[in-house]
Amino acid sequence: MSFLRTAGPDANSCVGCHFQPFVGGGAEFMANVFAGTTQREPAVLSIDPAIVSERGSTEMNGSGAIEMLAREMTMDLHGIRANVIAESKRARSSVRLPLLTKGVSFGFISASKIGQLDLKEVEGVDRDLVVRPWLQKGTVTSLRTFTVTALNHHHGIQAVERFGMDLTGTPDFDRDGKLDELTTGDVTALVLWQASLNIPGRRIPSDNTAKIAIEKGEEAFSRIGCSSCHIPSLTLNNPIFSEPGQYNLEGTLHRRQVSRQFTFDLTSEGPRPRLERRSDGTAIVRAFTDLKRHRICDREKPHFCNESLVQGFAPIDEFLTRRLWGVGNTDPYGHRADLTTIREAIENHGGEARLARLSFEGLTFADQETIIAFLKSMQILPDGSSLVMDEEPVVPLPYQELKEYLAETK
Ligand code: HEC
Ligand code: HEC
Repeated sequence: MSFLRTAGPDANSCVGCHFQPFVGGGAEFMANVFAGTTQREPAVLSIDPAIVSERGSTEMNGSGAIEMLAREMTMDLHGIRANVIAESKRARSSVRLPLLTKGVSFGFISASKIGQLDLKEVEGVDRDLVVRPWLQKGTVTSLRTFTVTALNHHHGIQAVERFGMDLTGTPDFDRDGKLDELTTGDVTALVLWQASLNIPGRRIPSDNTAKIAIEKGEEAFSRIGCSSCHIPSLTLNNPIFSEPGQYNLEGTLHRRQVSRQFTFDLTSEGPRPRLERRSDGTAIVRAFTDLKRHRICDREKPHFCNESLVQGFAPIDEFLTRRLWGVGNTDPYGHRADLTTIREAIENHGGEARLARLSFEGLTFADQETIIAFLKSMQILPDGSSLVMDEEPVVPLPYQELKEYLAETK
């Protein structure tokens, strides 16, 4: 089999691009993927950003919690949609309701006096009001949907639930002589593994000055408005992960197609660190995102407006607020993974994030560094760690000795 960088097959396994800092994580720029290339026949061979959308590989740690948050938010938004129709019919006049879930505003929804919907003021989410937490564009509903897509795109493995007899009329859709390439059970296993990966936590340096800097940085992060999009914590009402989900579209196994969902508790099962459970049974997700799309570029800061292809139903310049809970060891940054430092990522925030960036720029250099120190403390930790891990004291590298040695031997 010959590999092809743009449209795949491009790796021997998922780990080829999801390994940083551990298996299931993200990767460097060299593992970028070229979105949109698989839809074209013949495959696009150029990686010119003018014709392909290049994306950096993201980490799946904490993905179980993120997906369940998105499902709960979708349920809320669909409830509001049903209410606005019912209320307008009952009142025989138009009604306008805020689309608010878990403290995140997705604009407004209105209905006319005969219950006809008006979605003009919906923002940051698709018009079907399904919160799609996957891909940096926010265009994919579930881990399962994307796992089936990734299997095909990256490895030429066609899962039965999308490419099998039922939907395509053949057990060998890609005509490679291999029938029914991956079972539904195998896809479930892949999803459960991703959903149960440990959640990112905090790595706190032993040095006291660094500890104080991190605390100050965390406070400043909220004070200057970064937390309006990167929300420090969201509440997951029901911390039980269930598979398959109820918002999957055709080609991805749906809840109604199974007699029983597979479930596990995100707060008590799987490798540590796990989600924190509150006494009322809910869980805290400290992911620093609102699962909403924003446009954070403008003429002055055009960096994040660097794509030219439409994906799904999302505007070209909008991306999901990136979750930051693993930002300290998942460099490089930005959806194209082309920013080498956290500082560069912050300095390129424009558009809806312009005021927050200006506030950042208005801080002293030392105060800016506290925010960066705080962000660096949020990391994917080794399996089995506690949520907050004290860093081992750094052993100094023997440069001084080396210098002395070189001076002596000159
Ligand atoms: C060639 C590199 C590559 C390979 C191989 C690869 N991925 Fe990915 N993966 C990526 C990139 C890049 C993204 C980010 C895409 C985006 O944001 O548009 C991604 C995103 C994802 C996401 C969405 C995560 C998120 O944060 O939105 C999931 C889930 C995923 N991959 C699963 C898999 C699985 C499962 C496999 C193996 C079947 C796999 N990937 C193989 C590069 C790869
Ligand atoms: C209007 C919403 C919004 C505000 C306000 C905002 N951000 Fe972001 N942030 C985003 C979005 C959206 C992305 C993803 C950008 C992309 O890659 O397309 C992002 C990405 C980032 C990244 C890159 C993470 C990565 O892994 O690539 C960092 C770091 C970051 N933001 C820090 C901050 C800081 C610090 C502030 C406050 C000065 C801030 N953000 C304010 C929306 C926002």
